[in-house]
Amino acid sequence: MSPAWVDTTTVFVTGGAGFIGSHLVDLFLQKHFKVVAIDDLSTGSLDNLETANASPNFQFIQDDVSRIDWPGMLGPSDIVLHLAASVGVKKVCESPLATAHNNHVPVELILNAMVKKGGGRFLYASTSEVYGDSPELGSSEQDFLQVHTHLGGRSAYTVSKLYGELITQAYGDAYGIPVTVMRFFNTIGTRQRSEYGMVVPIFIQQALAGEPITVFGDGKQTRSFCDVFDLVEAVFGLSTACHTSGKIYNIGNPDPISILELAQFVKAETGSSSPIHLLPFPAERAGKTDIRARKPDISRIRSELDWQPNTHWQQTVRTIIHEHMMVHDQCVYH
Ligand SMILES: NC(=O)c1ccc[n+]([C@@H]2O[C@H](COP(=O)([O-])OP(=O)(O)OC[C@H]3O[C@@H](n4cnc5c(N)ncnc54)[C@H](O)[C@@H]3O)[C@@H](O)[C@H]2O)c1
Repeated sequence: MSPAWVDTTTVFVTGGAGFIGSHLVDLFLQKHFKVVAIDDLSTGSLDNLETANASPNFQFIQDDVSRIDWPGMLGPSDIVLHLAASVGVKKVCESPLATAHNNHVPVELILNAMVKKGGGRFLYASTSEVYGDSPELGSSEQDFLQVHTHLGGRSAYTVSKLYGELITQAYGDAYGIPVTVMRFFNTIGTRQRSEYGMVVPIFIQQALAGEPITVFGDGKQTRSFCDVFDLVEAVFGLSTACHTSGKIYNIGNPDPISILELAQFVKAETGSSSPIHLLPFPAERAGKTDIRARKPDISRIRSELDWQPNTHWQQTVRTIIHEHMMVHDQCVYH
């Protein structure tokens, strides 16, 4: 049985046709909420909404989030999960101005509408990038943040996300709107695309195509990969609990691996004969920082929500390999 307030609450997922957004849409529908996904399909895909489209509780709006009539659409008890953003190292480095604009303008529009409607709940998807080159011990929500002096390229993403955090918290403080900032660390799973520089789908595609698996730098840089199904459970918990408003939460898997180890695992699991090539960072990223280590300290969300990731990265990578093989088969036989 779902609680009564589920009937009066609509969950708006901006970026709902994207990788994480579409998994959130599916989860909230499973939990019997009415869900509206808004996406301009700039990096998302309608294919990600195949399951959601079968539900009578689901609506999709294909538009830019900054063109939506938010005051006309939002009800006073609705939840907005704001994920729409310009993402991916490649895309961000190619267009820092568009990134900066896209990542901060809609935040204020939505929060303004909530002030007008006198209610609602806002959760903002930020990023572990705000920690800069963080210690291997793990980044905690209280840490000082680092921004690279060169405010172009990749920093456009970091700074615009940080600005989004600031606006979110400032609206919460000034108008008493329940707001929560979620700092996502590297997340992996099905539906993630390779075109925008995401490492796991890129390695898998290269391995399946028998092309060299390209590792930038010495490959010793570490990342911690969280399964998307674990992450969406955390977001669900944060958005339905009362005590999480006004706070920042890390969401990620604290188990780090090196990028070289990831490449070797993908090669072994796909049975690929691809060589692993260590390459210098590409031109658009030369001279910018590459973050050596990234690992979340998840004590806050663990103690307050009793959440922790349950899926080992190797299991998730196997699932993604399987997904890529299915798509490949379809291409061959149809
Ligand atoms: N995937 C990760 O590892 C990760 C890590 C940290 C933070 N995040 C954050 O999580 C969120 C989702 O990321 P993702 O990995 O699912 O990427 P994604 O590209 O799959 O999702 C973003 C979605 O937003 C849509 N979008 C972008 N601008 C829009 C606009 N103006 N109007 C409407 N739709 C728009 C895109 O079409 C896309 O569907 C982003 O805010 C990202 O910054 C993701």
